[in-house]
Amino acid sequence: PRSILLDCDPGHDDAIALLTALGSPDLHVLAVTVTHGNAPLERTLHNARALVELAGASTPVYAGATRPLQREPLYAPHIHGESGVGNVRLPEPVRPVASGVAAQAIVDAARAAPGEVTLVATGPLTNVALALQLAPDLPDLLAGTVIMGGGLERGNASAYAEFNFLADPHAARAVLNAGLNPTLFPLNVTHQVRVTRAREAQVRAVGTVAARTSAAFLDDYLTRLEARDVGERAALHDPCTVVSLLQPDAFGVEARRVDVVDEDVDAIGQLVERPGEPNARVALRASEDAVYAVICERLGRLA
Ligand code: BDR
Ligand code: CA
Repeated sequence: PRSILLDCDPGHDDAIALLTALGSPDLHVLAVTVTHGNAPLERTLHNARALVELAGASTPVYAGATRPLQREPLYAPHIHGESGVGNVRLPEPVRPVASGVAAQAIVDAARAAPGEVTLVATGPLTNVALALQLAPDLPDLLAGTVIMGGGLERGNASAYAEFNFLADPHAARAVLNAGLNPTLFPLNVTHQVRVTRAREAQVRAVGTVAARTSAAFLDDYLTRLEARDVGERAALHDPCTVVSLLQPDAFGVEARRVDVVDEDVDAIGQLVERPGEPNARVALRASEDAVYAVICERLGRLA
């Protein structure tokens, strides 16, 4: 199996990404590293631990950054509730948080198996940027990097910026320019994988606890957007990253040169294209059917 690290801020959609990864025999989740993001770290850390245990896994869960590199923290309670996963109740975790900090755990895992570990990031990129500060050679150590973030010509947290990149634009900029050549999943592609009542029913019908919990996440998330009259904007962002490792042909990807606005202007956090040599593989097309098929199959494997 392919070894991955999942850096996340669960988060309804991070949670489904994590459960999908844990249900994949062809992936070995070495560690979950947690960041501030959809909710304060205390909440996202609690959710990550609870999800690992719900999946019957013993994956170590590391605490990461409580705040962005430079800006004040930005949370998303209007989308993910104060808890990060809305009103969905998760079992109280019993296993302790792993000792050590997330950024160092990323570096240690990469150094322990050079060229074998893929880093998947579905939250603000603070932990990844800190890992790069600790180990500027991280791009040579990792097998690959997959990131959900940004939006070309569109935002969701401001008129310009996507949430993960707005929440830590300095980290996003550092990560995109570090030589990782990441595969990037911006809003342009994640909005092609919609969350609807029919998809919620499809996931629930899988029947396992992981699938029913995932359906509860979809329901809670969709209900929140519907209450604000923006239900048609419901998109399954973060699971695209994990699914791309399991079924790459579910996505169309193009090499592009991209950057992030990190100056203190209205467009701060915006993903922009630049002329010049490509520095990322940007996913621009998705098959919604293929993405849900993979998720359902993997959630069905978690007893
Ligand atoms: C991203 O922001 C978060 O709210 C989601 O978990 C996803 O990672 C989408 O903009
Ligand atoms: Ca996320």
